[in-house]
Amino acid sequence: MKDVFKKLSHIDAGKVLDAATGRGDFINVIKQSFKSYSQIIGVDSSDTAVRQAQKTFPENDIEIYRMELENLSYADGYFDTVCISNSLHHLENKDQVFAELLRVLKKGGLMIVVEMYRDGKQNQAQQTHIMMHHWFARIDTLNKTYHWETFKRDDILELVKALPLKETSFEDYYIPVDNPTEPKLIEPLIKNVQDWIKKCESIPEAEFICCEGQKIIERIKTIGCVSASRLLITGTKK
Ligand SMILES: C[S@@+](CC[C@H](N)C(=O)[O-])C[C@H]1O[C@@H](n2cnc3c(N)ncnc32)[C@H](O)[C@@H]1O
Repeated sequence: MKDVFKKLSHIDAGKVLDAATGRGDFINVIKQSFKSYSQIIGVDSSDTAVRQAQKTFPENDIEIYRMELENLSYADGYFDTVCISNSLHHLENKDQVFAELLRVLKKGGLMIVVEMYRDGKQNQAQQTHIMMHHWFARIDTLNKTYHWETFKRDDILELVKALPLKETSFEDYYIPVDNPTEPKLIEPLIKNVQDWIKKCESIPEAEFICCEGQKIIERIKTIGCVSASRLLITGTKK
């Protein structure tokens, strides 16, 4: 894979917000990609995710809080860098969230958006990832948790182009895998789908949804599953 994050390697990121940090996977990218940073703050609305991320990052310069992105408890311009990765399709109030992210980003500060997309030329194993993701979204929606299907590439671009950013750049990337059915790769994915099947036992459409889940497991075993293509978008606040 071309290292798309290499272009961040000359940047002093200062105070960084990782919005919708989840388990903090993108915090690892922040730690590895920037030349330096003074502090990383990850926020997420899920108690479980926050507890997990707090355990993963015990460092003094990394803090994780439970917080709604619609109402961030930081002063205007507090952050030098704001990131949001693979979370746009989870947001119920995108406009409100972007307004908050831009409020806490200082003028001239760096905004980073990473998001997977569902269209374009993606191989069969990537298609499995997209199908699996849409299946997760259906279960979350039936369980009354907001989770949109993944976006089309152009929808993501349109969304970000509407923001008050300058020097914007866009790059597509994916993480190629030699053998997408390799056991060490697919076993955790199959376990994850099985856990999600358990989550849908109480919903009315359980039988149909569980059956779809089994089909996804079969597809993971035969075709494999690797990350869908993503867009990395960077821009500075006007
Ligand atoms: C796919 S996960 C995070 C992925 C992570 N950023 C990464 O790159 O691996 C999406 C996260 O968005 C969080 N989320 C959704 N809506 C939110 C909101 N309004 N405020 C804060 N977090 C939110 C969810 O709790 C979930 O942990």
